[in-house]
Amino acid sequence: MPHPESDSWFARARAVTPGGVNSPVRAFAAVGGTPRFMASGEGAWLRDVDGNEYVDLVCSWGPMLLGHAHPDVVAAVGAAVARGTSYGTPTTTEVELAEEIVARTPVERVRLVSSGTEATMSAIRLARGFTGRDLVVKFAGCYHGHVDSLLASAGSGLATFGVSTTPGVPESSAAQTLVLPYNDRNAVETAFAEHGERIACLITEASPGNMGVVPPAPGFNAFLAETCRRHGALFVSDEVMTGFRVSRSGQWGVDGAVEGWTPDLMTFGKVMGGGFPAAAFGGRADVMAMLSPEGPVYQAGTLSGNPVATAAGLTTLRLATDEVYARVDEVARTIASAATEALTAAGVPHLLQANGNMFSIFFTDAPAVPDYATAALQDAGAFRAFFHAMLDRGVYLPPSAFEAWFCSAAHDERAVQHVLDALPAAAQAAAGAGA
Ligand SMILES: Cc1ncc(COP(=O)(O)O)c(C=O)c1O
Repeated sequence: MPHPESDSWFARARAVTPGGVNSPVRAFAAVGGTPRFMASGEGAWLRDVDGNEYVDLVCSWGPMLLGHAHPDVVAAVGAAVARGTSYGTPTTTEVELAEEIVARTPVERVRLVSSGTEATMSAIRLARGFTGRDLVVKFAGCYHGHVDSLLASAGSGLATFGVSTTPGVPESSAAQTLVLPYNDRNAVETAFAEHGERIACLITEASPGNMGVVPPAPGFNAFLAETCRRHGALFVSDEVMTGFRVSRSGQWGVDGAVEGWTPDLMTFGKVMGGGFPAAAFGGRADVMAMLSPEGPVYQAGTLSGNPVATAAGLTTLRLATDEVYARVDEVARTIASAATEALTAAGVPHLLQANGNMFSIFFTDAPAVPDYATAALQDAGAFRAFFHAMLDRGVYLPPSAFEAWFCSAAHDERAVQHVLDALPAAAQAAAGAGA
């Protein structure tokens, strides 16, 4: 599909913004080509500045559970805007949004913030303040936003301290972080055996989606919760991506609620903001009581609990009924199984991994992808060809092989069929490009 307007806007963007984008993955660096500048979205569809239309399987990286421009969300936002966009005072909508979060999850108290990064950063500060300890445990391949201490990768060997993954993060900050392989109980046991008394918290994606979809092995989150409890560390479950998406209670609704454990702290974002900058962290009342102004751990935000963002989030959550989740799950199942059928028919080695309505396809011949080291062994060339063939046929996939595909309740039969029709040719393209 021709895209001269996107080309021209990308050139203008690069003249004024590093890489031409405001978040790196949007630049198409992993797949090449010009990122499409989107002009509007409606339901399952995006339209770019050249007038090309795409079925959206990114959904703003998760938030758009109801699809784009849902009429009730648009109306709630319009009404909120008309009442003024920010007061810097308490408002009733932020209380109602907090109540909705408390009703759906095990958290007892919530603090609203503006981004997932802010939520995880604040949760970690709170965990350190509460425990009086400094070390943080995380898993390789789990992304928690661009917080200094969480931009660390594994040092050499198990239970050693992290090294920073980017210039600008002091080694002293990365050295406060232990980075372990995901789904590896032995690594967790070893780290806690050696450093348990110094560990403030363990943070994990409740079900990782940032290395592609790599679900926790059965019982893994329960094991993490129990290990933290035994060592007096807090268990921080990052549900920025999974929260209010994989079920009405997020990933906790899938495992914790069934198995009978609760995280000490949780972080949320994406769906709960309804497409606006709103996020949250919350948890045990005694831990949250350490937070300013009730306690000594400082945290604040000019736009925290913004009335327009909370109106969008509250309306979205109230509309996120069991029927909505059933529809999103069904759409995901249909697209995922058609994708794997098309790739199988074309002889492309691949692996589908799913956690409810979040799924991704690894271009690999590995029988399972339990961690980042395995996820990293993908055939990037095959994904690149597959991605561009889908894009040319009007399907907007995440422009990286290490991302989850997201659908919405607005993906109706026409949108789903459009994706299914594009798959065989894209699978052939991947077959032609594979290693
Ligand atoms: C699990 C997880 N945590 C935290 C974040 C950071 O959120 P934000 O991009 O809103 O800062 C993300 C973003 O994708 C995420 O997926």
